[in-house]
Amino acid sequence: MTGETGHALRGDYSRARPDCTVDQDWEAYTEADHDLWRRLYGRQASLVPGHACEEFIAAMDVCDFGAAIPRFDAINAKLGPATRWQLVAVPGLVPDLTFFEHLANRRFPVTVWIRKPEEFDYIVEPDIFHDFFGHVPMLFDPVFADYIQAYGRGGIKAHELGAIEMLARLYWYTVEFGLIDTPRGLRTYGAGILSSGGEIGYCLESPNPNRIGFDLLRIMQTRYKIDTFQETYFVIRDFRQLFDATAPDFTPYYEALRGREPHAPSAVLATDRVYHRGTSPARAA
Ligand code: PHE
Ligand code: CO
Repeated sequence: MTGETGHALRGDYSRARPDCTVDQDWEAYTEADHDLWRRLYGRQASLVPGHACEEFIAAMDVCDFGAAIPRFDAINAKLGPATRWQLVAVPGLVPDLTFFEHLANRRFPVTVWIRKPEEFDYIVEPDIFHDFFGHVPMLFDPVFADYIQAYGRGGIKAHELGAIEMLARLYWYTVEFGLIDTPRGLRTYGAGILSSGGEIGYCLESPNPNRIGFDLLRIMQTRYKIDTFQETYFVIRDFRQLFDATAPDFTPYYEALRGREPHAPSAVLATDRVYHRGTSPARAA
């Protein structure tokens, strides 16, 4: 198994079932693992107020997972009744089609291993802290939960159509690095941001990155960087906008975009609705 950059993945895939799931084996975590979790959680929880969207904050309280590495079973007992989602344990990144099939069936794959203490601030591959802290609270929101399932279904289709690269950009700029315009100002719902000690402040407060109104086709033709803070964030008005904009069949969109040169991660186009820090862009007449 190799990751996006072709390097070997660090999880143990030897015991994985054909759908790439494993048992979490919670008893195998050491006291040092739990301690690292508590420290990661403590820092991130202190940054969430004022940065995360209210849906995320509310679900964090419901999950109550700060004291130790969470047991997936215990969270599933809360998540199932809330939105009919379940977490499944995986050794790390899984093949695209496997990932889409889990999502399409309302199963969210969560990596079992935790980073090393020296990776406290930065990790290349997603670990349990990213997957859990970043993604799981959002699965408690009914509209967002439906969006992720629809994304999984769309992924299976994109796989057949050879359009995964375009669809992956949508996941990146929404599920991982999305911003949302709330009555209290811009906030984030993106897991890659919410699990990051640095980017959670940067994405909202730095004057450097572009913040641009959500535009599905624009996003699907914009490249992204995986090893630095993002140069551009896309802003949704609410989760319903995201769900509705992505409801149509993407087949003609893929056709239209296929031959086009993608935009650079830093590009700002004349047609973009640009947000200035904390404020909504003037609505075009
Ligand atoms: N409607 C999309 C399609 O037909 C599927 C999709 C839904 C993709 C939600 C992404 C997010 O391909
Ligand atoms: Co993620």
